[in-house]
Amino acid sequence: MSTFAHSTPTPADPEIDTLVAALPKVSLHCHLLGTVAPGTVVDLARKHGVDLGRRADELYDHGSYEDLGEFLRVLDVVGSLVRDADDLHRITYESLTLGGADHGVLHREIQLSPPGHPDVPYGRLLDGVLAGARDAQADTGISFGLVVGINRERSGADAVALVEQVVADRRDEVLGIGLDYAEVNGPPGRFVEAYRLAGRHGLRRTAHSESGPPAHVLTLLDELGCSRVDHGYHVVDDPEITARCVEERVPFNCTPVSSDIGRYSGSGDGTHHRIREMVDAGLLVTIDSDDPPMFGTDPTHDFRVLAHALGYGAPQLAAFTRNAVEACWLDDGDKAALARQVDELCAPLLADAPAPA
Ligand code: ADE
Ligand code: ZN
Repeated sequence: MSTFAHSTPTPADPEIDTLVAALPKVSLHCHLLGTVAPGTVVDLARKHGVDLGRRADELYDHGSYEDLGEFLRVLDVVGSLVRDADDLHRITYESLTLGGADHGVLHREIQLSPPGHPDVPYGRLLDGVLAGARDAQADTGISFGLVVGINRERSGADAVALVEQVVADRRDEVLGIGLDYAEVNGPPGRFVEAYRLAGRHGLRRTAHSESGPPAHVLTLLDELGCSRVDHGYHVVDDPEITARCVEERVPFNCTPVSSDIGRYSGSGDGTHHRIREMVDAGLLVTIDSDDPPMFGTDPTHDFRVLAHALGYGAPQLAAFTRNAVEACWLDDGDKAALARQVDELCAPLLADAPAPA
């Protein structure tokens, strides 16, 4: 039985479309490999003489993914095509410009998965990514940080080895670590040692919990030392843990479109009921797009979908962006500057918003 649902179509609504296009965005939950556009996949395959065996649109047909595992194997195919400094520059540059700044993204903390690039040594991976990111920042003004993702389907010892590399080849732009790939194959408790090592070296920490129970959120906070949570949808199944997260202003980075297709944020029917419950409970929710072209979305579309499905207008959409400013890992001065920029851009949207009934 397929666990992945088909995406739910969102009808056109010019008012929502205008609003979400103008909304400033701060992106805290995107995977670099998941942002590679299908045309770029085709170019890279041609460049490296790889026969994909299917068209790029077939590769990216999210309606055909049976489950997260199948999706992740497609991600591995994309990773295997990104081989040299030019490739890394290109995918990072495109992620931050066409896939970011062009959608009003002012700041992106992007997750980079070294295990997804088995043939590229860590230092070369970072050099290529940073070159692309710096050029994107110079051309568009978007700011960025990197989150190094641990593949949770591998061992705790592999995770420690990766953190050791991060620590040995320290770059200012690497703000912290994350935990990606399938949660069912890698419970968070396996990574305590790696996360403690990262914490001792001043790295910030986040981790995915898409499908796991509320207890996984506790493990993230108390054992891994996470200062934010990727997804965390099941937290609302436990009122006590939810209350604690509200009290501590724990950020939850939610991705409506990909998580609806994966049936994590709801039942795969476009109602996004867990995200609605999280917002209603007063949790600090941010919105992003995960692996945008692979799930038929982009940073604007994720807001559009949620505005339509849950009836959110400018005040709630602006609150999501302000939550992301609060949750981001910039230092205090840069964060205050980003907050001012967001407030200025949101002011006209909020002035135009209908008064609450
Ligand atoms: N990319 C890597 N791991 C992922 C996950 N668990 N969900 C979505 N995209 C991913
Ligand atoms: Zn993710």
